[in-house]
Amino acid sequence: MTAPIDISMPLPGAAFGATVRLSRPLGETMPEGLPQVLADAGGLLLIPGLGEITAAPQLLVKLSYLFGPEVEDYRRLLTRMILAHDEVPEIFQVTNMVPNFRRPPDPPSPLLTPDGKFPVQYPQREGWHTDQSYRRPPPDISLFYAVLPVDRKRGQTLFASGTLAYDALPAHLKERIASLEGLHAQPGSGRDRASALAGKTPGPFAPHERSRPQPVVRTHPVTGRKAIYLCEASQMDWFEGPFVGMEPGPHGEGAKLLDEVMTHYTRPEFVYVHEWTEGDVLVWDNRCLIHTATWYDADREKRMMWRTTVRGNPGAIYEGEKKSWIPEAEAAQ
Ligand SMILES: [Fe+2]
Repeated sequence: MTAPIDISMPLPGAAFGATVRLSRPLGETMPEGLPQVLADAGGLLLIPGLGEITAAPQLLVKLSYLFGPEVEDYRRLLTRMILAHDEVPEIFQVTNMVPNFRRPPDPPSPLLTPDGKFPVQYPQREGWHTDQSYRRPPPDISLFYAVLPVDRKRGQTLFASGTLAYDALPAHLKERIASLEGLHAQPGSGRDRASALAGKTPGPFAPHERSRPQPVVRTHPVTGRKAIYLCEASQMDWFEGPFVGMEPGPHGEGAKLLDEVMTHYTRPEFVYVHEWTEGDVLVWDNRCLIHTATWYDADREKRMMWRTTVRGNPGAIYEGEKKSWIPEAEAAQ
């Protein structure tokens, strides 16, 4: 028997998502019904009050397994092993508490919208992406746990609903993107927009590192609903893309279309802004949402967040595909 859960939909200030309050600790019982709540809520759950995970990190992995058959082992993914949890390799640490950490993004410029609001919309707000879209098949779900968040009004995580954004697209844009593929690149591979704008020449790919095409419109394998599946600056390939078969490069027809679609995707009515409290878990569906991080003062504040990534149900178009990021020699063993 599973414990009752209290569900409130949508998330405050948003048109999607749900807050879920558990009646029993995770250490006593796992809330088996959560995947259905996630689907019903449009792909985003906030579960507050799970501070027990800090002392028992394996609980986050157990919770992750509710959402799919495979939880990523970061020992197989990371070149910078320093970011994996010491004892639980399924946990990726997003933190400034190790040397050589990835710095938080810069604040937007200008800091506020023309009417004085916190900016969420691309291109004023940057960094919008869905996790690991440069891999095929891409992952389904991410879980993010606040061990030690920074103070509110900084270090937020923003989400945009690809389902709501798709439904509201004007007919001509729906038609233009219906059978398009985006070309997604791994951040750090030198294929990003800034490198293309600077006229740099990207280095060669190893076969398993190549940019990967993904449909711009994905049909969700659980809900059957269509969602926009697209990223921007550093997670698209701006040399051969951003779209397959369209004029490439940062000034081409592809760039114009990407800017138009991403500006629509991140309209404030499709966005939720999460201000973190210690012990929060967010569960998001990468198949139908994009997200981005915001600035905090990494020189003065300490932040520790734990992420897990769940795979296993990317949808029929990926059926039978081998994992694109595993080198052939290793896959053959
Ligand atoms: Fe992410």
